[in-house]
Amino acid sequence: AYHLSILLEEYSMRPDKNKLIELLSTEGEENLQTLYNQAYKVKKKYVGTTVYLRGLIELSNICSKNCYYCGIRSGNKELKRYQISYEEAIAEAKLCQQMHYGSIVIQAGERNDKPWIDFITKLIIGIKELSEGKLGITLSLGEQKLEVYQQWFEAGAHRYLLRIETSNEELYKSLHPAAQSFEKRLKCLHLIKECGYQVGTGVMIGLPGQTIEDLANDILFFYDEDIDMLGMGPYIPHHNTPLKHLVDSFNPAEALKMGLKMIAACRIALKDINIASTTALQALHPEGRELGLKAGANVLMPNITDTKYRKGYQLYEGKPGLNETAIQYQKELEQRISALGETIGYDEWGDSKHFYSRE
Ligand code: 5AD
Ligand code: SF4
Repeated sequence: AYHLSILLEEYSMRPDKNKLIELLSTEGEENLQTLYNQAYKVKKKYVGTTVYLRGLIELSNICSKNCYYCGIRSGNKELKRYQISYEEAIAEAKLCQQMHYGSIVIQAGERNDKPWIDFITKLIIGIKELSEGKLGITLSLGEQKLEVYQQWFEAGAHRYLLRIETSNEELYKSLHPAAQSFEKRLKCLHLIKECGYQVGTGVMIGLPGQTIEDLANDILFFYDEDIDMLGMGPYIPHHNTPLKHLVDSFNPAEALKMGLKMIAACRIALKDINIASTTALQALHPEGRELGLKAGANVLMPNITDTKYRKGYQLYEGKPGLNETAIQYQKELEQRISALGETIGYDEWGDSKHFYSRE
């Protein structure tokens, strides 16, 4: 019954923290199903059952940051670094359009040097041209200066993803070197919004030291920041990081469950935003991303990166889809989505409904 009481609350009501904690503490198969079903009802009512696809291109694994949890951190000297060329990236964007994905996500490790910034600007303009403005462009390129965010927005990007990773400042500190401040990251989220982008953020679920209350606070953070899009996934330990001692005790089933509960609670609390069912869910279960859709997510980000680069982008252990090409995946995806009774929003940007209702 408690699920229902939240469901019926006013659209603009700030979620109650204790209720969020209750939702996130749901246990037992039957109760979990009730939670996912309630989230699905909210999804149907506010955003419908069309799944939007974003072709994800992992442009480069070169990163100047050194997050303790991440497999492509600058401190990982065992990793061969790559950067996809302009021509290759354009070819992948064309593929994305041929497959009728409505938009493309350009993701890479963080870099702040001018050649990189200009390379991205040129690429955004190139993608706009080849698609006659039809392909939506989302960026996931880390912390940048206002001028840089502006330059990319003016070039034609219109959505930006920057995960806050955790809204608990102390926990954030314990997972990043001192030079990477929480304050700066939050500031960047504000700059992104100021430029006019649709703003996406998110957290990792199940971080070492993270509590249920932290996750409830994360949801309140999303609400208070009035964000448009969410990309969240379970934290999965990686052997080549300072947190490698967590690899052995990692419990994929628990991590998956917590990830799904968080998606459901976010859908119930935040209603009309876009929520991605992320690759990290698929890493934990062959149908992880479908389970995410059933728990309230409405966006999928199929990887369209050329398979020869994929093993260079292992943020966490066991990242799936190393050899699966975009075309192979598309057929399977269509079958899986129609099996859920949902449809794919081909050729549509699938903007966040929340973006148009904010202010
Ligand atoms: N497990 C899960 N997600 C991770 N990310 C980085 N490392 C890991 C990990 N070990 C996520 C971060 C980052 C995004 C690109 O990948 O949230 O923002
Ligand atoms: Fe770089 Fe992002 Fe990994 Fe941090 S999480 S090391 S910023 S790629």
